Amino acid sequence: MLGLTNCAADGRNWRDGSGRLPMRRLKGLVLAGGKGSRLRPLTATGAKQLVPVANKPVLYYALEQLVAAGITEIGIVTGDTGEQVSGAVGDGGRFGAEVTYLPQSAPLGLAHAILTAREWLADDPFCMFLGDNFLMGGIADHAARFANGAAAAQILLKPVADPRAFGVAVLDATGRVTRLVEKPNDPISDLAVIGVYFFGPEVHQITPTLVPSARGELEITDAIEGLIRAGYDVHSSIINDEWIDTGKKDDMLEANRLVLGAIDRCIEGTVDGDSTVVGPVVIEAGAVVAGSTVRGPAIIGAGARLTDAYVGPFTAIGPGCTLTSCEIEHSIVLERSVIRNVDCRIADSLIGREVTVARSPLKPHAMRLMIGDHSMVDVVS
Ligand code: G1P
Repeated sequence: MLGLTNCAADGRNWRDGSGRLPMRRLKGLVLAGGKGSRLRPLTATGAKQLVPVANKPVLYYALEQLVAAGITEIGIVTGDTGEQVSGAVGDGGRFGAEVTYLPQSAPLGLAHAILTAREWLADDPFCMFLGDNFLMGGIADHAARFANGAAAAQILLKPVADPRAFGVAVLDATGRVTRLVEKPNDPISDLAVIGVYFFGPEVHQITPTLVPSARGELEITDAIEGLIRAGYDVHSSIINDEWIDTGKKDDMLEANRLVLGAIDRCIEGTVDGDSTVVGPVVIEAGAVVAGSTVRGPAIIGAGARLTDAYVGPFTAIGPGCTLTSCEIEHSIVLERSVIRNVDCRIADSLIGREVTVARSPLKPHAMRLMIGDHSMVDVVS
């Protein structure tokens, strides 16, 4: 079960660590490169894996889940945003991990990331975790199953309504994987491949033989198919836990909803007598709530200031934000943004860092926009 244990950002750990030590000692390989084109303009300058869910970068959940599964030796494959990623994660000490950075020459695919990490991985078995994948429930049981067995690979699968956006798997009656297709136009099953994979050293026999796919990448599905064709066992688990590939705005909001749905109430900031704070709400230290209503689940980041504001369910307000005379719900606002004197309620929104959304007294009475490329604004008429 996922939950927040206290208000402090670094204290929000997964509760699902079994504490068991696996038989085969696994390394963790976290992929934090890629372009994040579907989250532009937020990702035009920033790493998609650092976009926050409940005020915490989505990447941190992956690191915490690896550590909770006993996997502490972690390599992070980085791309153009490598400096931001290493700035946010550091040496991994605060996660209880020892992190090594493995720069990838170009975003040439998930199997290329394994080639990039070949030397660091040595012949150790490993769990590859895509840094933008968000999985409730953790990976401890799956890691233990792989570590205690002898399979060359193990994948996690989830039935989805539209498998065309994912790798898709076909299983035999025993749950062994017999076929994999990357983003099929005509899906061969409804089982999507989740971005958490377990591999033994056998995968290194296959990755050097791969050729780029139609999208110019060395596909992980081709690597797994290669293992199957070479006669190796590839196991699978069909999971019931919620899983989100957080590539788009609505996916981020959904991950935010899931995490906030599991938080405990914790008020460390200041709430004045004219304010109402209802339900599971985290108000971090230094935040000030004045003449406002916060209806949880919601989180108000450290140093944020709410004045005459309404913050509704499933909203994460980042550190240092200022909200004055406005209403917002089911949204994510990143740090140090300002929302002021906005009459209509803001909903279903993802607002970046240091953004200002404000009503202006200037004439003509018009919308004046300064927004980045690939932004999206839904206007209420
Ligand atoms: C990648 C994999 C795909 C998998 C998905 C999970 O897709 O190629 O097989 O189902 O991650 O998130 P990509 O994110 O590269 O589109």
